Amino acid sequence: MALTKTIMEPEPLVTTSAIERLESAFANELAQVNALIVERMQSPVGMIPDLASHLVRAGGKRLRPLITLAAADLAGYKGDAHYKLAATVEFIHSATLLHDDIVDGSPLRRGKPAANTVWGNSASVLVGDFLFARAFSLMVETGSLRVLDILAGASSIIAEGEVRQLAAIANLDMSEPEYMQIIEAKTAELFASAARVSAVIAGLPQPQELALDRYGRELGLAFQLVDDALDYSGNAQKLGKAVGDDFREGKITMPVAKAMKAASVDEQGFWTDVFSKPERNKADLDKAMTLMTRHRAVQATLDQAKTHITSAKAALQVFAPCKTRTLLCDVCDFVVERSF
Ligand code: IPE
Ligand code: IPE
Ligand code: MG
Ligand code: MG
Repeated sequence: MALTKTIMEPEPLVTTSAIERLESAFANELAQVNALIVERMQSPVGMIPDLASHLVRAGGKRLRPLITLAAADLAGYKGDAHYKLAATVEFIHSATLLHDDIVDGSPLRRGKPAANTVWGNSASVLVGDFLFARAFSLMVETGSLRVLDILAGASSIIAEGEVRQLAAIANLDMSEPEYMQIIEAKTAELFASAARVSAVIAGLPQPQELALDRYGRELGLAFQLVDDALDYSGNAQKLGKAVGDDFREGKITMPVAKAMKAASVDEQGFWTDVFSKPERNKADLDKAMTLMTRHRAVQATLDQAKTHITSAKAALQVFAPCKTRTLLCDVCDFVVERSF
C-alpha cells in the first residue's frame, strides 16, 4: 500500500530556482548585507538616500553579493569582513547601473522608472559617484590591501568596458572576440572579483583563489551573453527592464554580431543601413529579428553562454564537494534559464 502510494503520488510541483535556494541558504547573511547597504547609503543630503533607495529598495537579484557570501563559506571563512565585501560589491554594481542607464537612455530598471528619468541625469551621475565612494570606504574597513587592489582594479576595468562599448556603438566591424573583451570588462570582472575577494580574506592558497576568480568570470560572461540574448527574446515584465534597447541604441551585441557574420550580401546591406541611421524603428527591429531567427543568432548566443557555464562549474572542482559548492554550481544554470 505504502509502495503504491509512493508510485502513484506525483512529486509536488513546487520547484525553487537555484537563486532562490542560494538566497535561502544565505538568508541571514544577506539580511545583514542589506542592512549594511541601507545604513551606508544614508546622507544628510536628502536627495542621495531618496535616489539611492529608489534603486536599492526596488530589489534586484543580489546575485553578486550572494556569490561573495557563498564563496566565503566555500572558502571556510570564519570572520565578518565578507558582509562588508558583499555590500561593497552591490554598491559598485548599483553605481554602475545608475551611470549605465544614463548612457543607454534606459527608461526602466528593476521594474521601476530608471532613476535618471525621475531625478534627471545630473543627480544620477552624482549619486552614482557617492555610491562608488561609499563602496571604497566599506572595503577599506576590511583592512586588506589585496582586496582593495582587486575591487579598485575591477572598478576601473568596468568603466573601461563601458567606455569601449560606447566607442563601439554602430561599429559594424566589431568582431566577436572584441565583444567578448567588452563584456568581460563591463560585467564579468565584477563577478570574478565578488568571488575572489572571499578567497583573499579567507587566506586560501593561490590555486583556489584563481579558481574562484575563474568561476565568477565565466559566470559573468555567460550572464551578459544571456542578457544580450534576452534583449531580443526576453520578457520586459519579468526582466524589469525594457527589451529591444540594445538595437535602438545601435549596440552591436553578440546576437547581432552572429547574424551579421552569417549574412548574405543583401542582409549585409540591411545591417549597414540600419546601424547608419540615427534611430531605429519597430519595422527595423522586426526585420532584424527575422534575420536573427534565420541564422539562429539568439540560440547560438545562448549556446555560447552554456560553454562558459560549463567552465564556471569546472573551476569549482578544486573544492571538495559540499552543499555550498552545489549551490554555486546550480546558480550557473539559473543564469542561462532566467526570464525567457
Ligand atoms: C544587470 O545586472 C546588469 C548586467 C550586467 C546585465 P543584474 O541583472 O544582476 O541586475 P539586478 O541587480 O538583478 O537588478
Ligand atoms: C550593464 O550593461 C551595466 C554594466 C555591466 C556596467 P548593459 O547596459 O548591457 O545592461 P542592462 O541591459 O542595462 O542591464
Ligand atoms: Mg544598459
Ligand atoms: Mg550599457
